[in-house]
Amino acid sequence: MLVVKNLKCEYLENPIGIDKINPRLSWQIISDKRNVKQQQFQIQVATDEEFKNIVWNMHTFSEKSIHIPYEGAPLESRMRYFYRVKVWINKEEESDWSNTCFWEMGLINTSEWKAEWISLKDQKINEDFKARAPFSCFKNFTINKDVKKAVVYVTSLGVYELYLNGKRVGEDYLTPGWTDYNYRIQYQTYEVSDLIKAKDNKLNATIGEGWYSGYLGWTKRKDTYGSKNALLLQMYIYYEDGTSEVIASDESWKEENCNILMSDIYNGEIYDAREKEEASIDSNLIIVPYPKTHLIAQENEPIRIQEEIEPLSIFKTPKGEFVLDMGQNMAGFVRFKIRGEKGQKVTLIHGEVLDKEGNFYRDNIRDAAQKVTYICSGNEEEIYEPHFTFQGFRYVKLEGFPKDIKPSNFTGVVLHSDMKPIGSFETSDKKINQLQHNILWGQKGNFIDVPTDCPQRDERLGWTGDAQIFARTACFNMNAAPFFSKWLKDLSCNQMSDGAVPFVVPDILKGTFADGIGLTTAGWGDAAVICPWTIYQCYGDENILIQQYDSMKNWINYIRNQGNDEYLWDTGLQLADWLALDNEEGSFFGATDGYLVSTAYYAYSTGIFANIAKILGKFDDYKLYNQLYASIKEAYINRFYDNEGNLTSETQTAQVISLYFDLVPEKYKERIAKRLVELIEKKNMHLDTGFLGTPYICHVLSDNGYEDVAYKLLFNTDYPSWLYQVERGATTMWEHWDSIKVDGSFWDIGMNSFNHYSYGSVGAWMYQNIGGIDMAEAGYKKSQIAPKLSEKLSYTKAALDTMYGKISVSWEIIEDKINMNVVIPHNTTSRITLPKVKNIEKIKKYIIEAYNEKRLHIDLTNGLSETYIDTDFGFEIFGDNISFEIGSGSYNFSYEYTPI
Ligand code: BGC
Repeated sequence: MLVVKNLKCEYLENPIGIDKINPRLSWQIISDKRNVKQQQFQIQVATDEEFKNIVWNMHTFSEKSIHIPYEGAPLESRMRYFYRVKVWINKEEESDWSNTCFWEMGLINTSEWKAEWISLKDQKINEDFKARAPFSCFKNFTINKDVKKAVVYVTSLGVYELYLNGKRVGEDYLTPGWTDYNYRIQYQTYEVSDLIKAKDNKLNATIGEGWYSGYLGWTKRKDTYGSKNALLLQMYIYYEDGTSEVIASDESWKEENCNILMSDIYNGEIYDAREKEEASIDSNLIIVPYPKTHLIAQENEPIRIQEEIEPLSIFKTPKGEFVLDMGQNMAGFVRFKIRGEKGQKVTLIHGEVLDKEGNFYRDNIRDAAQKVTYICSGNEEEIYEPHFTFQGFRYVKLEGFPKDIKPSNFTGVVLHSDMKPIGSFETSDKKINQLQHNILWGQKGNFIDVPTDCPQRDERLGWTGDAQIFARTACFNMNAAPFFSKWLKDLSCNQMSDGAVPFVVPDILKGTFADGIGLTTAGWGDAAVICPWTIYQCYGDENILIQQYDSMKNWINYIRNQGNDEYLWDTGLQLADWLALDNEEGSFFGATDGYLVSTAYYAYSTGIFANIAKILGKFDDYKLYNQLYASIKEAYINRFYDNEGNLTSETQTAQVISLYFDLVPEKYKERIAKRLVELIEKKNMHLDTGFLGTPYICHVLSDNGYEDVAYKLLFNTDYPSWLYQVERGATTMWEHWDSIKVDGSFWDIGMNSFNHYSYGSVGAWMYQNIGGIDMAEAGYKKSQIAPKLSEKLSYTKAALDTMYGKISVSWEIIEDKINMNVVIPHNTTSRITLPKVKNIEKIKKYIIEAYNEKRLHIDLTNGLSETYIDTDFGFEIFGDNISFEIGSGSYNFSYEYTPI
């Protein structure tokens, strides 16, 4: 059996609305064999499903099966292209053609936009919130011929919902998504052939403020990108007779009533269901002379409903308020059913936690009202969900609802970017599983079109530091490549002329914030280098390196230009180990020397950049930046170590980042690692790291022989630890280790989120060390399987759907044996390390036996001899670990182990 499956174009299955001129194709190989390696492939691309009109036919000897760029005849706007793939593996075994898949081009050139931006002359203002009311507009049109296909291209200055003949077009929310609209505005493409009716048709849209002109940031900033919301739409109707027609937004559209009186990302929505939708009004519509040159096709997966949650309960608090408990801190909105009197007003106010007394609490949400008000129409049962807003919440205070309203009248609707879930992780320990759950929900709540710090308070911004800290973990849980690729383009656009990377992307702080404090900071700005690098490593995507190359280089050059010493970054504001616990109580800043942190990141990013230059074949840059890296490292060592080889900053984080970023001279490595353990011991075996130390503390311990200490930190349940919040009932990650203090009180209301993914960055370590799945060559072309055992765990199951297929590792301890199952995707190889092998001789024998019985197929030209160390197999034995290379396929290893 040999099948080519899971064909993707730009990571997507049969996408429509692509504007890339060389879209990239990927596939996976399915076979019941082992050691499957692709040797040749053939791709055919045609404009018809029968492949009569072929525009690209490529047959080549190549192992490459991911991200193959289309290189045929120039692609035409709006055209659908069909493609299929076949492969040859091993000794010329040939597959059949894969199933036929397709992609469809969008509007490639902005000059193709004939539609006009339409808006209202005067948008109504909601006085309570000083916000523009959304408006609705429509166009009736008649169809007299048989329709073959209809496709609509649509976007807005603001956020929009589109309907055709009363049916919602597409399943996307908060479109066109958030980009820096000064440079880039995405449009969406929907095929609407099924929604078109024979004769009379009606297209209508509602447009709200969204990120374009709504409130953004804690300074009550509004109208960041403009003060007029507008719609732009162009629909192509293709008839059976070969003709076509275009319906576009223009002066012929009319305004109609809109029941939404206010809708704002932070503040929520007010909806008056009483007004009659059909009532005619004096149209106030105008054409807005806004450019169309910034229009681009949708780049990442749009925001969609991901799941719907049934609430746990409705209860009365000690204060006598009625509160709905979703049982899960989430981002999205509540949909509800109600039978109310005409004019009856109900409100929902959203919060994340209850206070010590069990009362509804929302002070930490600051100035985001998160309030939804609905005025009933008085008709039978009404079902309502808000339109242009989302809330971060677990608890909802209900006002004005009938006393006997049931939890089943409410549904929690979870929204986030529709990224494909690719990872799974489970252990025998319930609390660790809950931690994984909380990390995953931190991602769900904060991957709403841009990577945000939190989804509830008046922030929800693309904080660069948070994003880079969490990126590696994010890439385990979901395919985050298109998501980051889009966001990183905005990062490049927002980079200042000197290369500085702003705190948040899209940069809404420009000009309003940071008076007297710097405009960038290490560890945050380094997202410019670390995020693309992470995406490249996890998905083998070289394009992102090309796309971000100048941005990365500009960032490094920016740092180089700071201060007097080009090899140190010792100027300006450094947030450094933000929220670490090693400073005085209540401080946002950790105790680690900010300039040690900034110089360490400078070295780290420069080292990565030099490597990238090498990968892309830019050898002059490679030489230059590799030399720069060596000089920074030297300067770091001179500046931040004393004569005995101790770091001048006596903090856990200083030791952690020095080790992780390889800034410790070989001769001091043992001592620095030991020092880290001493500092942990000093805290009674607890961490006290903040944003920048936390992601790496367990890695550094595992990599330097202190696996037991890493596990100790992970399994701690008292403050401060990851499981402290789990024990306190958290369902997402907290911003502070002590968001809820031991005495039950809260951290200061000024900054206390219960859905902040940064400390969830331990997730990558969990996949890599407990599950044992890691990347050895970009995209997992070669993986590394090396689970590390703990006496606290009796089993673990981890899996990761890579670009090549699924890697899975599960291990279980049964009495004195370890039983491990491993699956390696075809067209990849792996280096596997079996841990805690009791009797190396026995395991050697086991492997030979298994090999002979064909339970373990390894492509070994010379066979497996007794002297196998350093053979093609790559056997290595260190301590009680045995490690060797394997090809693709499924394996089972079962052996006696040395108890931990
Ligand atoms: C955000 C953080 C961010 C920090 C930096 C906070 O308000 O929520 O996560 O990184 O500011 O100053």
